[in-house]
Amino acid sequence: MSGPNDPVTALFEMTRKALQQKQEMGDTEIMISRESLERMPEEVKDYKDLEEFENDINECTKCPLHKGRTKFVFGAGNPHADIIFVGEGPGREEDLRGEPFVGRAGKLLDKILAAIDFERSEVYIANIVKCRPPNNRDPESSEMETCMPYLLKQIEMINPHFICCLGRIAAQALLDTRLPLGKLRGGFHDWNDRKVMVTYHPAALLRFPQYKPHTWEDVQMLRKAYDEFKGSS
Ligand code: URA
Repeated sequence: MSGPNDPVTALFEMTRKALQQKQEMGDTEIMISRESLERMPEEVKDYKDLEEFENDINECTKCPLHKGRTKFVFGAGNPHADIIFVGEGPGREEDLRGEPFVGRAGKLLDKILAAIDFERSEVYIANIVKCRPPNNRDPESSEMETCMPYLLKQIEMINPHFICCLGRIAAQALLDTRLPLGKLRGGFHDWNDRKVMVTYHPAALLRFPQYKPHTWEDVQMLRKAYDEFKGSS
């Protein structure tokens, strides 16, 4: 990943500015104070594990979505998973419980996972935004941009080979594209040395069950590639 939002670029930029300032002040000795470490954006910090990361960010107030949340929905599952499923954002149930995909769409996601022989505990599940958008509206671009570094850090820490984007919004945000879902699904996208599959969101399947056969095709392709990867890794 590269670009202004990439954590490494951000760290470089921050270090460059700090060094420049020191040089301008005639100070050649490099010191990083505790205060500046604490001010570092979370995405460039080093955490011991996901729990430590979650504890650092779960009181986030960086975007207006925090005002309506009951619980911050960090993500759940196997911290060493080779596959992450990414949804859009928490709904009512998820907001109340602080866990992703535990409502009606979550029950269907469980069935989709079971159909390809995955237990929830084997995979990792997260969302693009960690706080519930009011009345289940789509997250706004600014909210997704603000929250995206958290997901990118989760991906970096879990280091999965596969990412499955559930629905157009998650896919467009992660892949940074405006292409419609119909053009994004049906194969793998290469993304930062990982393979990204895009399929329908379970909530969309509840409303339009005619798309279920396409979803089964997508996830079977995903399972096959996963097994091949595990067989060769
Ligand atoms: N829909 C999502 O996109 N994510 C959830 O966690 C629940 C419903």
